[in-house]
Amino acid sequence: MKDVNDSESGGRVTIFDTTLRDGEQSPGCSMNLEEKVRLARQLERLGVEVIEAGFPIASEGDFAAVRAVAAECRGARVAALCRTAEADILRAWEALRDAARPRLHTFVATSDIHLEYKLRKTRGEVLEMTRGAVRLARTLADDVEFSAEDATRSDVGYLCEVFAAAVEEGATTLNVPDTVGYTTPTEFRELVRAVRERVVGDRRDVTVSVHCHNDLGLAVANSLAALDAGARQIECTVNGIGERAGNAALEEVVMALHVRADRLPFACGIRTEEIYPTSQLLSEIIGFGVQPNKAIVGRNAFAHEAGIHQHGVLSNPLCYEIMTPESVGVPANRIVLGKHSGRHALGARYGELGYALSRAELEAAYTRFTRLADRKKNIYAQDLISLLSQETRARGPFLARAAEFEVAGA
Ligand code: KIV
Ligand code: ZN
Repeated sequence: MKDVNDSESGGRVTIFDTTLRDGEQSPGCSMNLEEKVRLARQLERLGVEVIEAGFPIASEGDFAAVRAVAAECRGARVAALCRTAEADILRAWEALRDAARPRLHTFVATSDIHLEYKLRKTRGEVLEMTRGAVRLARTLADDVEFSAEDATRSDVGYLCEVFAAAVEEGATTLNVPDTVGYTTPTEFRELVRAVRERVVGDRRDVTVSVHCHNDLGLAVANSLAALDAGARQIECTVNGIGERAGNAALEEVVMALHVRADRLPFACGIRTEEIYPTSQLLSEIIGFGVQPNKAIVGRNAFAHEAGIHQHGVLSNPLCYEIMTPESVGVPANRIVLGKHSGRHALGARYGELGYALSRAELEAAYTRFTRLADRKKNIYAQDLISLLSQETRARGPFLARAAEFEVAGA
């Protein structure tokens, strides 16, 4: 069994990707079997350690997709979700039959509000359901994760009692979900610490996991805060898709670990250059992308329009970039020409188009450019060329590809 609790600061964090399960549950994000397998392959290439492939009892399609992903992915662990009912667990196990590294992931809600209005069960009954589910799951799989749904709105004492029962029955991962995206970083850190201290103690064979939703925009912050308290698995999704406002975004979690390794000294095994291709593949499959200013993978994440910024980036990208676009698989940083751009960026773009301008030519072009940029949102290579004097145009080596070159607003 892996040693996950060797130190509270540093070590390894497991990235558990639930794009194919929680992500797929969000409106407009459904995927067919072939698409799920294609994405799962890319998740393996990305270096995800656990791929949650679906909820097999939910539908024939989910069952078939989990089977197909399990057959395809031989390196990553493949997880299947199930409630605590025997039929759920058996169905999930059947779907995982061919997996090289199967994980059964069983869950039940632990908050009083869910017990009273959704499950109509007492605390004692849910405790027994937990015991029964984990016990059965362990007769089938060595790797069993137990999640306490709505953990952040549960009574902490009761939550720890349920988790302790799951550990006694052999659960190897205890997942603390913020199902409704309600918690805050400091509160969540305290909760995870309580679970670590009261339930896991010195055991080195039980991993504490977190699964945060983004209803208050805090999913990534909450997930990272939990690392301080000893969580060593983060559940997340590509592009942050998921129920309602989504789940913690994988790319944000991973790049926070990467860029701020001084504060978050955890290895996670993700090949960061595969982040952008993975994000693009998901967008292509589900038919919509992320908002332009989305961290890490948004169209503007590495775009610089303000003149001062452009000058800085052209001199040294470190002036305004805390990571390179290449490090996440974005081909190059994009200097976007618009009304805030300065002479440096304009000169650099003319250079790319094959025109080496004198200071006076650049000045003249810049004056025309700012007038145009006030009126026109997207400025293309053709526009830039037309801003040059006839003389300069005739002199410059006209690039045949210039017409295809989209300079701004791509
Ligand atoms: O948000 C949640 O509580 C879940 C669990 C099933 C892990 O998705
Ligand atoms: Zn969830």
